[in-house]
Amino acid sequence: MQLREATGPAMVIRREDYTPPPFWIDRIELTFDLDPAKTRVLNKMVLRRNTEVPAQPLRLDGEELNLARVVLNGGGCSFKMDGDALVLGSLPEGPEPFELEIFTTCSPEKNTQLSGLYLSQGDFFTQCEAEGFRRITYFLDRPDVMASYTVTLRADKDKYPVLLSNGNLVEQGELPDNRHFAKWVDPHRKPSYLFALVAGRLISREQRIVTRAGKEHLLQVYVRPGDMDKTEHAMNSLIASVVWDEARFGLPLDLERFMIVATSDFNMGAMENKGLNIFNTKYVLANSATATDTDFANIESVVGHEYFHNWTGNRITCRDWFQLSLKEGLTVFRDQEFSMDLCAEPSARAVKRIEDVRVLRTMQFPEDAGPMAHPVRPDQYVEINNFYTVTVYEKGAEVVRMMQTLVGRDGFRKGMDLYFQRHDGQAVTCDDFAQAIADANPDSELARQLVPFKRWYSQSGTPRLQASGHYDAAERRYTLTLSQSCPATPGQSEKQPFVIPVTLGLIDAQGQDLALRLQGESQTSRGTRLLVLTQASESFAFEDIDAEPVPSLLRGFSAPVIVDNGLTDDQLLHLLAHDSDAFNRWEAGQQLALRRAVQAVRAEGPVGAAPLDEAFIGAMRAVLRHPTLDAALKELVLTLPAETYIAEQLDVVDPQRIHAVRETMREQLAQALQADWAWAYEQHKDNGAYRPDPLSSGRRALAGMALTMLCIAARETGDTVWPGKAYQRFKDAGNMTDRFNALSALVVSGQPLAQEALARFHAMFKDEALVIDKWFALQAGAPDRGGNVLPAVRQLMTHPDFNLKNPNRARSVIFSFCSANPAGFHRSDAAGYVFWSERVLELDAINPQVAARLARALDRWKKLAEPYRSAAREAIARVAAKSDLSADVREVVTRALA
Ligand code: ARG
Ligand code: ZN
Repeated sequence: MQLREATGPAMVIRREDYTPPPFWIDRIELTFDLDPAKTRVLNKMVLRRNTEVPAQPLRLDGEELNLARVVLNGGGCSFKMDGDALVLGSLPEGPEPFELEIFTTCSPEKNTQLSGLYLSQGDFFTQCEAEGFRRITYFLDRPDVMASYTVTLRADKDKYPVLLSNGNLVEQGELPDNRHFAKWVDPHRKPSYLFALVAGRLISREQRIVTRAGKEHLLQVYVRPGDMDKTEHAMNSLIASVVWDEARFGLPLDLERFMIVATSDFNMGAMENKGLNIFNTKYVLANSATATDTDFANIESVVGHEYFHNWTGNRITCRDWFQLSLKEGLTVFRDQEFSMDLCAEPSARAVKRIEDVRVLRTMQFPEDAGPMAHPVRPDQYVEINNFYTVTVYEKGAEVVRMMQTLVGRDGFRKGMDLYFQRHDGQAVTCDDFAQAIADANPDSELARQLVPFKRWYSQSGTPRLQASGHYDAAERRYTLTLSQSCPATPGQSEKQPFVIPVTLGLIDAQGQDLALRLQGESQTSRGTRLLVLTQASESFAFEDIDAEPVPSLLRGFSAPVIVDNGLTDDQLLHLLAHDSDAFNRWEAGQQLALRRAVQAVRAEGPVGAAPLDEAFIGAMRAVLRHPTLDAALKELVLTLPAETYIAEQLDVVDPQRIHAVRETMREQLAQALQADWAWAYEQHKDNGAYRPDPLSSGRRALAGMALTMLCIAARETGDTVWPGKAYQRFKDAGNMTDRFNALSALVVSGQPLAQEALARFHAMFKDEALVIDKWFALQAGAPDRGGNVLPAVRQLMTHPDFNLKNPNRARSVIFSFCSANPAGFHRSDAAGYVFWSERVLELDAINPQVAARLARALDRWKKLAEPYRSAAREAIARVAAKSDLSADVREVVTRALA
């Protein structure tokens, strides 16, 4: 275990302090002698002074390196250490290139942080984003320094038969002592965060493809021996990604060889290293026996995401880490569009959109309202790894989506073309991106409003949009007034208005979209249209309206805002039944459910037995039984808003009461619709040979939900037929989705058969790490009954399969409990918080990045009711009191207590 020194005052890095690098590094030649205990790294660089900035010493970043030798232009040179940095003072004064050789060693087997060069099951992997390269060698470890890389790997032939790095393999051969080498040359200049190497005993699935230009490319997916039968879907997703990026954005694959390598020890999802993507196994390995529909969908989108980075991130990269959303927001937008474009049916597109918005609202909205709130382009950070957030990623993607909405799909393509024309090969800023999209569309609202639009990058917090409609029968005019506001966030007390694209339709009494004409317009348009709110408040008058319509606002969720639409229950029921926009149909159902949940939570006295009224239940029945709506949408509409989302609507949060209310609502839906659930189960349970397509996934999801509801209803009546059926299905299922849904139905409903099923499931899949993760997560996330989950979680941590050092496993137990099980976690005896503080400290000594994520589980403590609030503050203070915290955790707890 690595001991840290007690930390002094935090080093805050500010965006406004950016200066260009004082030196350029044009070429780097790296030679690795790979050894788990002591890896030697020889680094030969060609540098030159950047004469455009005032002369200063060369400060090379480094971390946990052992320095052996420094050679300047073949001779000795003087240097000093300043903290972790290696500082060279007497260097050539002119712009002519000079050569620096630095020889260091590091210890991959001691690297439990999984940043830099580390071991996973005996194989070598790297993770360099954001600042891991400095843990491999001394370098100007910042994204605006781009070099050409030549990499030679040397290692034992038997232990490490496969030696990979970025680019093309130019030479390989034997060495003495049963060793061998491989030499790789990357033809593309790149920043250090995109460097990668892999060495180990791996096998690969290979596919040769010919792209539009007639060029041949080799695609490879590397996994450990034994996992080959789980690589087909990742390969298919990769091929689909290549095809899509060429078709939709004209962006071809620029490499002869594109490799994906899977590792079971990974801090995040995956990494877009040039030509050598490294993935968490969770986002590569799948077959129908071990992976669920959700896994298949996630693999498709993460493979797409990393592949799309090859242009948005690698060919054009970030000037500095404040610009992270330049590549992440844009690339999330691109992977979302990719998944949507792969859907054959329009309704499946809407389902994907709903799922994405659900993530935004349940994760990003709370972040934007909490102590870690930051703009999409942050102004400052202590530890950049803390800013790989849902704000930078998901809200960033929404900002790009709004640009597309404002300039249209074709206009957006033109903007992307201009962006690449201007900036290919450069390290640029979010401003450069927005400017390119606007310049390519000079007549657009985006171009006219570019400066205020960019407040989406600089202002944090979720704007609130208030809508009120007024119908004037005599004038046959419907006036819609839209107003906006945005709450204060850390460091930002005042906000200026945002530019908010509002797509909307007006629906008549028959449920049809009205033809729309704004006052002063001559043309009428049918269906959905776009309004752009640029002021604090504006009114829009629609003419020739014969009767008061119901407004369907923010169709497809055209902006990341909280809408207060002022609609009555009857109006929402009308939208739920008729809206031509599938997203808003779902949204109407969510709002109806949310109102009832909030009302029941706020009510005095014990939680009533029946928080749901006949109108709501009837509407849900109508959706469930609807003859044409697809199953996936039904499942989404019938899923009640998450406890954390309900919590966000309240000023004071009692997690136990929210849980009790939501559980009661679910029981009521389970019972009232029992016959309908039975019908839905029978109708959707059989789907033939497994295919992870949206249609059959939706059917499986609805069948799984029905089974859960039937088991919940059975718990009340003591009926054993449905639990029996669930157990049978669990045993007989032909795929993991159906099997896991049946298991989950038993666990979630608290059926006695759950224990037997869990034991059997573990025995069946004991050698499948990703399935065992699901087994842990299901138990740690199970609905709390009288405080039973925490003892179960403590027990799970003593299971022989538990391993705190493996991030996936730690997440499956600890995060599933602390971050995804509010009622289990927020206990009136504070034992959940005690558990949390122990785990944060324990993890921090192993892996600060993972620890800092866990630290965020108490972000929203200030909203908690007593006794939770005081207990949570104490737990955070206990963590903060530790003197040798990592900068990662220190930043999170300091902001939480501020
Ligand atoms: N660029 C990667 C992706 O989004 C994420 C890498 C994040 N790594 C980290 N240590 N913060 O695809
Ligand atoms: Zn990314």
